[in-house]
Amino acid sequence: MDKEKFYITTAIAYTSKKPHIGNTYEIILTDAIARYNRLKGKDVYFLTGTDEHGQKIQELAENAGITPKAYVDNIAGEIKNIWDLMDTTYDKFIRTTDDYHENTVQKIFKKLYEQGDIYLGEYEGSYCTPCESFFTESQLVDGKCPDCGREVKKAKEEAYFLKCSKYQDRLIEYIESHPEFIEPESRKKEIMNNFLKAGLQDLCVSRTSFTWGVPVSFNEKHVTYVWIDALSNYITALGYTVDEKSETYNKNWPADLHVIGKDILRFHAIYWPIILMALGESLPKKIYAHGWMLFGNDKMSKSKGNVIYADELAKEFGTDAVRYFCLSEMPYSQDGNITYESVINRYNTDLANTLGNLVNRSVTMVNKYFDGNVYVTEESEDVDNDLKGYIGEAVKLYKEKMDSLKVSEAVEQVMNIARRSNKYIDETTPWILAKTEEGKERLKTVLYNLVEAIRIIAVMLEPFMPTTSKSIMEQINSSNSDLSSIETFGKIENNSKVGNAKVLFARIDEKEKLEELNKKMEEKVVEEAEKAPEITIEEVEKVEMKVAQILSAEKIEGAKKLYKLEVDLGTEKRTVVSGLVPYYKEEELIGKKVAMITNLKPAKLRGIESNGMLLAAGDNDVVKVLFVDDSVPLGEGIH
Ligand code: MSP
Repeated sequence: MDKEKFYITTAIAYTSKKPHIGNTYEIILTDAIARYNRLKGKDVYFLTGTDEHGQKIQELAENAGITPKAYVDNIAGEIKNIWDLMDTTYDKFIRTTDDYHENTVQKIFKKLYEQGDIYLGEYEGSYCTPCESFFTESQLVDGKCPDCGREVKKAKEEAYFLKCSKYQDRLIEYIESHPEFIEPESRKKEIMNNFLKAGLQDLCVSRTSFTWGVPVSFNEKHVTYVWIDALSNYITALGYTVDEKSETYNKNWPADLHVIGKDILRFHAIYWPIILMALGESLPKKIYAHGWMLFGNDKMSKSKGNVIYADELAKEFGTDAVRYFCLSEMPYSQDGNITYESVINRYNTDLANTLGNLVNRSVTMVNKYFDGNVYVTEESEDVDNDLKGYIGEAVKLYKEKMDSLKVSEAVEQVMNIARRSNKYIDETTPWILAKTEEGKERLKTVLYNLVEAIRIIAVMLEPFMPTTSKSIMEQINSSNSDLSSIETFGKIENNSKVGNAKVLFARIDEKEKLEELNKKMEEKVVEEAEKAPEITIEEVEKVEMKVAQILSAEKIEGAKKLYKLEVDLGTEKRTVVSGLVPYYKEEELIGKKVAMITNLKPAKLRGIESNGMLLAAGDNDVVKVLFVDDSVPLGEGIH
């Protein structure tokens, strides 16, 4: 019999910048679901990729002095590297700059235009003339341009629109008759009430104010404006071409699951179904919008210096541990929170103490007491039955949770089995049993049960921590790893032999690691503050620089590079934190006049608020402060 197909996708990530741990969470989550469905015996097709067009990317490339293509090649490479480092098992990586994709996007656009679903109209919005950009009301900052801060004016631009209103009733009916279509329920309600039932606006689908996009084939002044381009990836990747549908497409479409973040649900639950209806194609079976990953309950942002990257975290803890944090910290449909404390805590408590210890103790005991042999026995005492009953229940729950996308709760079931098994060791006291002949007979049963519990854990862990799962399987020398093998307890065969015990996760010194990670984060804030994009003369004028005199310099405890400086500006005194310790002794600074930026937003470094920045030249090897001649009065402006 043919295997049941399962087509699963992630959102395609923007190639504007390196993806942080939040974006990476999505691919890890999707990978866990894909792997689980493979374990269930399904024929999985897993798609991911990158979203590479748009004004922002064009601007970033211009700032970097390279072509947009060179820019996106670089970032797409970086994204793919991170997805690979995270051990994700995607079958295809699509880029929206791939030829086949661009060709089909053009054909989709043309077809929808020819059948009257796309029409030419006028886009009206707030326009910033120097930036040549339109902004929506919500993008404006205090009613001004979010990029340069200048006044904007109402303007119109010729643009194509997708006639959404035409499909509104059909879509409402579809969502109502397919309760499983959008998850979670709370967000589905939002979509229904705030958008669909409130009356759908037609969607602007082309732009003339930038060029980095798929040209509209019949009017090359226009480029396709992101969403038709981006959303179509889910079918172009399968070989859909408008004129023809490939075998892969026929086999896999409709998608079984689109995994996306909550911020883009509207596009997937409204515009994507409308595009598909207009094309005469079936709708995806399910769209699941996950929550956001926050850092210390805050949105991650470069200027706050709290952007965490998966590759950096993996260097500290390993890939499987990063996968584990993401999957266990992010609850179903809600936002999740990551902090260095929680990461270290989960590492030590769950991975080192609970899981690692269980495997290590058990395998060590089988080697020590029975030369590595595992024996099947007939006997089963109450305590054994209790363990088996617990595991049976946990396995059942695990499947229910995975089938309903409650991945963090499924992960919890695995840890529950590990905790229960550790308790079983305490209850059965193997080290006492080992002392007598009679006890040793009993010990055979105890160790059999432990090895089998560990095997079940390893199978369940495969979607979450594939390398760890494999390592456990190797340690117990088992190859029984499909999902059906954990339905009944007792698959380990008589006289099988375990391998050598290995440490899966070595405990981490919490205080030391935390200090190290916080220090790295602070260095990033300093680095960020030092990076400068191209700016206009008006922006230069915004920077206020004055002559200041250093009154005192004090090393900050625990920070290798930082001085706390008190400076005098003539009219006021300020505290500035500066990374000059490796380059200057205190006495080389005190009393000197320096050039200082005085209107920099205050930043906290090592708990000290820094109110300004000294100007200095050089990089990490040699840094020279720009001292000012002593004859210049304090507080004098620098131009
Ligand atoms: N390019 C669009 C998606 C087009 S899909 C046809 C996009 N790209 S993105 O790079 O901004 O985001 C990629 C995915 O990461 C999205 O699903 C987004 O919701 C998700 N996340 C972005 N920040 C996130 C967190 N902090 N936490 C969890 N997911 C996050 O949107």
